[in-house]
Amino acid sequence: MTSIFIAKESRAGEHRVASTPETISRYCKLGFSVVVEQGAGGGACFSDQQYQDAGATICNGFASGCAQADLLLKVAPCTADEAQHLNDKHLVVSFLQLDLHGNDAGAVFAKGAKIFAMEKVPRSTLAQKMDALSSQANIAGYKAVLIGACELGRYFPLLMTAAGTVKPARVVIFGVGVAGLQAIATAKRLGALVEATDIRPEVKEQVESLGAKFIDVEKDDDDDGEASVYASEASDEYKQRQAEAVAASVANADVVITTAQIPGRAAPLLIPLSMVKTMKAGAVIVDLAAEQGGNCEPTVADEIITVDGVTIVGTTNLPATVAVNASELYARNLQNVVEHIFEFPEDGTPTLNLDADDEIVSASIVSSVS
Ligand code: NAI
Repeated sequence: MTSIFIAKESRAGEHRVASTPETISRYCKLGFSVVVEQGAGGGACFSDQQYQDAGATICNGFASGCAQADLLLKVAPCTADEAQHLNDKHLVVSFLQLDLHGNDAGAVFAKGAKIFAMEKVPRSTLAQKMDALSSQANIAGYKAVLIGACELGRYFPLLMTAAGTVKPARVVIFGVGVAGLQAIATAKRLGALVEATDIRPEVKEQVESLGAKFIDVEKDDDDDGEASVYASEASDEYKQRQAEAVAASVANADVVITTAQIPGRAAPLLIPLSMVKTMKAGAVIVDLAAEQGGNCEPTVADEIITVDGVTIVGTTNLPATVAVNASELYARNLQNVVEHIFEFPEDGTPTLNLDADDEIVSASIVSSVS
């Protein structure tokens, strides 16, 4: 297997691309031949000419690319239509999102193709450079703050002007993982007063080191306090204590950004409708978990709605709105995956080696929807 195909993304609003001229140049040096679908990089400002200069050939259409290559690099999962052009020689490296696109994945597997699912790469030190969930969540955290600032009819920073003093905006962030930490940093850079909370108390230090205030919620008695990169589901008692601890901060907030997730489950509900009703008119909630059901009860995925004067943003694909950097980072994640799953013998022909004993491969290779 030595040929790579970079497809043009077909899903609505997907402006990212799976490879940049920089990573194509690397693939060519490693001995791959690379085919890029015409216009694949357009949404991220990479031209066909740049790809050609980096060593790729340009093909016309998805079917043609699939016929010329066995390794398919994508951002979004293949659609059922795209799957019709795959066969059992193909390995697709892309996000899989079985919960959202299970039928499409079923069509891929029906053709005998395998998928390396980027969201299944473990969050381990070894796999860090392949961790596309993190590279993209970081962007989502940044963009969530900018959207919050744009939707808000107020300044973020403290301003002292001849016409009077403007108080800084108050921002509350739920969930201090990758997106949450970037949201804190971005809101601080814009001059807001920031508070944040997380079910993992060990993140308090990180919150404070960014200049924000941590909203402490007392842990459950049976919580062993073992630090983990992922949270487990909160007990009803914890949820009650959390709601009480954040009540005043949420009621005073200008912008609330929610990023809480528990992998493999629906997003935890942190802001019920009753809490939205305590908020100030003109306040904004940006719910990053909209695609997983939302952290805020009234959130509608991919819509901006208003409830009692509070704007609730449920935009789901924020990384695609920062397509240049999102593509650059994602492309490097993919390049690291490719370098991990191929061997590069001296004769210059890259050879696929899906080692089932390798923790990254075994976690990420999927060949059925079950
Ligand atoms: P992460 O796993 O790094 O962080 C999630 C944080 O939520 C963790 O720190 C966890 O401890 C915390 N958490 C879980 N349950 C909680 C609870 N009940 N109360 C308080 N905190 C709780 O996740 P990451 O990568 O930062 O992603 C965050 C969210 O953003 C996810 O839902 C993800 O799907 C979403 N996302 C949305 C995008 C968009 O465009 N809308 C793009 C990328 C990610």
